Amino acid sequence: MLGDTSFAIHPGKEKKDNAVIYRDIGDLVHVEKAGTTYLFQCTNGKVAIQFYTDSIVRVTMNQKQNPELNHSKAVIVNPEVVAVEEEDTKETFNVKSSKLVLHVQKKPFRINIIDQNGRVIVSEDKHGMAYRENGEVIAFKQMEENDHFYGFGEKSGHLNKRGERLEMWNTDVYAPHNPETNALYESIPYFMTLRDGKAHGIFFDNTFRTFFDMKTSEDYYSFSAEGGQLDYYVMAGPHPKMVLEQYTYLTGRMPLPPKWSLGYHQSRYSYETEVEVRELAKNFIDKDIPVDVIHLDIHYMNGYRVFTFDKERFPNPEKLISDLKEMGIRVVPIVDPGVKKDSEYPIYQEGVSEDNFCKYIEGDIYYGEVWPGISSFPDFTEERVRKWWGEKHAFYTSMGIEGIWNDMNEPAVFNETKTMDVEVMHRNDGNPTTHRELHNVYGLLMGKATYEGMKENLQGKRPFLLTRAGFAGVQRYGSVWTGDNRSFWEHLQMSLPMVMNLGLSGVAFTGPDVGGFAHDTNAELLTRWTQVGAFTPFFRNHSAIGFRYQEPWQFGEKYEAIMKKYIQMRYVWMPQLYSLFYQASKQGLPVMRPLLMEYPDDEKTYNLNDQFMIGDNVIMSPILAPSLTDRVVYLPKGEWVSYATGESYEGEKVHLVHAELEDLPIFVRKGSAVMQGEWNSNQDKATKSLTMKIYASNPDENYRFTFYDDDGETFSYENGEYLKVDLEIKSSEDSIEVVVLDMEGNYKPSYQEIRVEVIGSNNPVLINGKESTVIKL
Ligand code: GLC
Repeated sequence: MLGDTSFAIHPGKEKKDNAVIYRDIGDLVHVEKAGTTYLFQCTNGKVAIQFYTDSIVRVTMNQKQNPELNHSKAVIVNPEVVAVEEEDTKETFNVKSSKLVLHVQKKPFRINIIDQNGRVIVSEDKHGMAYRENGEVIAFKQMEENDHFYGFGEKSGHLNKRGERLEMWNTDVYAPHNPETNALYESIPYFMTLRDGKAHGIFFDNTFRTFFDMKTSEDYYSFSAEGGQLDYYVMAGPHPKMVLEQYTYLTGRMPLPPKWSLGYHQSRYSYETEVEVRELAKNFIDKDIPVDVIHLDIHYMNGYRVFTFDKERFPNPEKLISDLKEMGIRVVPIVDPGVKKDSEYPIYQEGVSEDNFCKYIEGDIYYGEVWPGISSFPDFTEERVRKWWGEKHAFYTSMGIEGIWNDMNEPAVFNETKTMDVEVMHRNDGNPTTHRELHNVYGLLMGKATYEGMKENLQGKRPFLLTRAGFAGVQRYGSVWTGDNRSFWEHLQMSLPMVMNLGLSGVAFTGPDVGGFAHDTNAELLTRWTQVGAFTPFFRNHSAIGFRYQEPWQFGEKYEAIMKKYIQMRYVWMPQLYSLFYQASKQGLPVMRPLLMEYPDDEKTYNLNDQFMIGDNVIMSPILAPSLTDRVVYLPKGEWVSYATGESYEGEKVHLVHAELEDLPIFVRKGSAVMQGEWNSNQDKATKSLTMKIYASNPDENYRFTFYDDDGETFSYENGEYLKVDLEIKSSEDSIEVVVLDMEGNYKPSYQEIRVEVIGSNNPVLINGKESTVIKL
């Protein structure tokens, strides 16, 4: 391979002429208004502007024709009717909502966007919108000295992407992910800029290969695509949380996941037989190590044919699944898009006879090699095909399966380009388009087909979907794991900013393969990684064929005991985590977040890569390097309490914290609270008693939060079967006050009260004014 030798840097390879000439959009010629859309005719193209809400404006440039405004795969809402004022002067044309001013300079056509506080958030100067003859479109925006950039979906490297050039092209990368691995499995062409404590967002809704260049200049950045329209949304913020609410208003929020999917998952490529899976499950039960899910990787299938079981390895999958369910364990099988070319295989036969596979324009099916050998690929861009695929999942649901793992859906193909021929012509619901344009949404649409099919087949139960590839909006269908990492300490380190940036990109339910997928893990790495995993939104231990087995007991009792403690802790924290997932489903806020999301005015948080928050009041400071038992922890404003020792720590300071192998430093902000359940057993995981741990603070501080619960399994919460408690905690000189602001819903949990426990004060607790330590539900 080229990049593997110094031939890659051979002097003869240097490009002689790399100056790119873009054609600028030119001057404004005239403006017209159609409904809620402003259409600007410029000398070299047309630009449409629409306000989606007061705080979200869309800009669409099309150099060839009128901008197309209805073809998004990511955006699920239509523009609201927004009251705007317009002002037409000799030099400018301005449109103003209550939250944003769009200042359009006429000659040349340049857009400046100003927020409600008069701050210019997005601006164009020498360069604006432009394109090239080959179809490339590009937008240049001014970069300020204090700009920090986050999001961009799934990317390696650090949190802040200033100084990076990022590429979006869904790619299967088995080679070790490193800071210069750019395109990975997910493409989310979205980012958030944090400037002087205030944030705004840009979503570039273009499914072609796209680039975000925050590197070439210190004065401007750009985003570009190989084709399509220059179509982007600006979200006003100004708080990072508001940017995320605005972005997920456009692209959707995650449905409430089944509670079991928030537990511990055990996986391996592969547990190859029914006997092996039963033994694995029995080990968890005997050792009292919690597990909710066992994944079945490709070996469960007959010759890697999807929608089959290998009857020699798995003679009775129904029985296996129901026996495991009694043990409190679900089975999640892998389903890849590649359908084996085999004329005796019903799925292939149906796919061919019903014309469901991706084809070239001339009519030939596209074939590529994946695990089953030569395979064809369903054309998920077509509604009819998505339905077909979705219905096929009755094969799994009829056996009692409630979750599916979609892999290789970039789609990955074993060839030089690693994917499908870009010339393949997708049907795209009546608007045929090449794979070059739709590559980045193939995984999203497979996820849609799978999620919707599972939901239909499960008749009222919540499906779980894990997907490797995706695009903006993937959160509507599935959780995402970060693909084929390795058992390197560096990959444990990198997983933190990676998961945090995914969270900042609207995908709340994510996590890496705990322990590392490829390479041999070791006792210490697995232990430290399990501590982190206990608090990443998605928590799955997965390892690759040919490398060491890495179940929690593989390295002896000492390590097993520590991992068991942390996996159990996941369940102790489940009430808190579930409430945060509820928040993600309502507002789009991530469960695991960088500190900058809560402390946008604190520069020390702007590139803090080795700590993270769970919700708005808990900081995790894991040990991420071998042989280390001390680390520096930065605590922002407020006072903080060690979860393990109850010791107080001052905020806006760094601390040297000691953490033996069994310790994960966790800090809770004084004045706030966390909801805790308990670990019972694998067979009975429901919370039986609930405790609200209050971390007493200085007088006059108060904290509000929402506790949420429901049956965790069905959609009956949509009909009022839930419990939602809005709480406020206030500390005064002589008491801790808890106020139940609101209690809503008909769900009756098995616990009937919330017990209140105070850490750091002996003052009496007042609940709604009366001395007590229980809240009756
Ligand atoms: C891919 C997946 C990995 C899986 C393997 C076999 O490499 O990323 O998780 O185990 O394929 O299916």
